[in-house]
Amino acid sequence: NGSLENDIEHVLIPTDELNGRLDEIAREIDRDYADKDVLVVGVLKGAIMVVADLTRRMTIPVTMDWMAVSSYGSGTKSSGVVRILKDLDSDLHGRHVLVIEDIIDSGLTLSWLVANLRSRGPESVEIATMLRKPDAAKVDVDVRYVGFDIPNEFVVGYGLDYDEKYRNLPYVGTLKAEVYSGR
Ligand code: PRP
Ligand code: MN
Ligand code: MG
Repeated sequence: NGSLENDIEHVLIPTDELNGRLDEIAREIDRDYADKDVLVVGVLKGAIMVVADLTRRMTIPVTMDWMAVSSYGSGTKSSGVVRILKDLDSDLHGRHVLVIEDIIDSGLTLSWLVANLRSRGPESVEIATMLRKPDAAKVDVDVRYVGFDIPNEFVVGYGLDYDEKYRNLPYVGTLKAEVYSGR
């Protein structure tokens, strides 16, 4: 027990690389939304770190809302069954919505979510994700801002969990095999 780091096999994206990409994406968003009011929709729980770190780098005014959906439960595979655990408080009519996610894996969560949000009458819906796994895609999702494309491995940290743990690691890494097998 002790440090979370003991469970990490290797660091895939260190903190300084995450920060560098966040700076770049924030500048892009500032440019793209210069004359628009943005409603940032953070997808709980995984996206909390990206929402916090990305929005504080943006200089345009934003409002924030949160949606909690879950497609993984406590395992490592997407079930494809998306449940709304908490819905938005905001009315989306006429709004420019920017959905922020930590990772697009199969794409099932976001393709479902974007269709759901589009049905609520927004002016636009775009997606920003910190991570994307091209080799795991089961559906195509049109993503405007991507931090990093990564290999099809299970990763944790920077908001991403395994069994609700490791979200507070400040970098993205893979877990040692013995962690899954229960030590
Ligand atoms: C994870 C992740 C994404 C989604 C991606 O969330 O944070 O939201 O899965 O998977 P997909 O592209 O295969 O659908 P999870 O359902 O584990 O909930 P959490 O954010 O609370 O951990
Ligand atoms: Mn999530
Ligand atoms: Mg999860």
